[in-house]
Amino acid sequence: MTEFAADKILNKGQRPAGKGNSTRPSGQPIASENTSLTAGPQGPTVLDDLHLIEKLAHFNRERVPERTPHAKGHGAFGELHITEDVSQYTKAKLFQKGTVTPMAARFSTVAGEQGSPDTWRDVHGFALRFYTEDGNYDIVGNNTPTFFLRDGMKFPDFIHSQKRLGANGLRDADMQWDFWTRNPESAHQVTYLMGDRGTPKTTRNQDGFGSHTFQWINEDGAPVWVKYHFKTRQGWETFTDAEAQEMAGKNADYHREDLYNAIEHGDYPVWDVKVQIMPFEEAENYRWNPFDLTKTWSQKDYPLVDVGYFVLNRNPRNFFAQIEQLALDPGNLVPGIGLSPDRMLQARAIAYADQQRYRIGPNYKQLPVNQPLNQVNTYEHEGSMSFLFNDPADPVYSPSRHEKGNGYLDDAEENIRTEAYPAHDLYVNPDPHGSDLTRAPYVHHAEDDDFIQPGILYRDVMDDAAKERLADNITNAMAGVSAETEQRVYHYWDQVDENLGKRVRELFAEKN
Ligand code: HEM
Repeated sequence: MTEFAADKILNKGQRPAGKGNSTRPSGQPIASENTSLTAGPQGPTVLDDLHLIEKLAHFNRERVPERTPHAKGHGAFGELHITEDVSQYTKAKLFQKGTVTPMAARFSTVAGEQGSPDTWRDVHGFALRFYTEDGNYDIVGNNTPTFFLRDGMKFPDFIHSQKRLGANGLRDADMQWDFWTRNPESAHQVTYLMGDRGTPKTTRNQDGFGSHTFQWINEDGAPVWVKYHFKTRQGWETFTDAEAQEMAGKNADYHREDLYNAIEHGDYPVWDVKVQIMPFEEAENYRWNPFDLTKTWSQKDYPLVDVGYFVLNRNPRNFFAQIEQLALDPGNLVPGIGLSPDRMLQARAIAYADQQRYRIGPNYKQLPVNQPLNQVNTYEHEGSMSFLFNDPADPVYSPSRHEKGNGYLDDAEENIRTEAYPAHDLYVNPDPHGSDLTRAPYVHHAEDDDFIQPGILYRDVMDDAAKERLADNITNAMAGVSAETEQRVYHYWDQVDENLGKRVRELFAEKN
């Protein structure tokens, strides 16, 4: 079989094919998968059947909560190929000409539950994960270039109105239309939804969009605004309303099956990757607010620019591990790509990880399908189901005297921020509509100094006995410090008060 880039992801976590007798998950041989242990041939089942108890208990825990929206979905893996030079717009490594990046894609409907038909009329999710050298980059879009809303505050109400009534658990046209007509910003997206795009024939026969306006930032720190378009090479095909409904009754998994079979048969679907680029300054006076997700940018004003293509050439090996646990997140950004003043995007950037911690668990990023390909260097540790751990010699905190580093903007010496920096890791904000995003240290006033007040406390508030108890307590608490840290401690107390520093030195020398 040909090796594809996505195999790097798909090979992780698979057990070798089972041979011979079965074992418990803890490795011990199992006596029987078929017959329970009983007290005599016709007696009761006994608690000593450890495997029976474990088998039933694990079965009870097989499901995790489904995604609140976009629960019904399917996916595949593949690779992104960059054929054009867009380095004048972005320094993002995955978008440099010639780069091939392994990827995952998940396609979904919005309102239906996990078992619902994938041909029900709906907006269709079009979500991509790129496993880049700088970590995972996710574009979590739809098969439409717009959305129903422009403020994240309304999103839960919107989804409630599309799902089911509280009272009877039924979907309800009245609440759908009540919500849409009371939120006129939905009109553009509802036009798409009620048109052909609401019923794509297959996953392969539809275009995708990043929908939001994002920011690209080049090597010189210069920003532009960008919208992603993914154009199917399979051609557009749609069902009529009647065909979609008929298919929903015949085969609830029609889209899932179609994509799976195409890939199994080597008929790999391809999408061309294109972008619209808006110069940074033009956002201000463009005829429509370019950050309003209910609007598109005219392609006459901002024509499509070719970037490359992606191909889906691998099916998941395991649907649950690699699709259900795939945690796509608009907050997964990489250097060279930022957010924008789009409020929907900003709400999404924090919402997804929260749902994923809840539905999969706090360590979902350790799962093979969510691990980045690059080396992780984190201070996050422990928690439920933690199975990756840091080098035992690594510190568990920062700043520290150890080699394990800090943020790339942090000061190398003290590992803290000493100057203000524009937050180019998020996006360059267009003034005058909000202050620039900045990572700045606390503003110091005339007499702000870390050591003035503890010095006053020592000299003016403590009597001699209290001063001596302080030095005694400090030197007791210092037991076990390294030689390097010992010197730092002396320097620290010298700055509070020279006498205190001197006394700490004396007492510590006496005690050791
Ligand atoms: C503030 C607005 C929004 C919020 C709070 C929100 C929230 C969520 C959440 C919590 C999930 C489930 C994530 C998971 O557990 O893996 C999800 C899935 C999804 N959302 Fe949104 N969403 C919003 C708007 C949008 C918009 C505007 C789009 C498209 C342009 C979109 C496309 C998707 C897609 C495609 C998925 C499925 C991802 C996958 O395949 O796993 N959402 N959304």
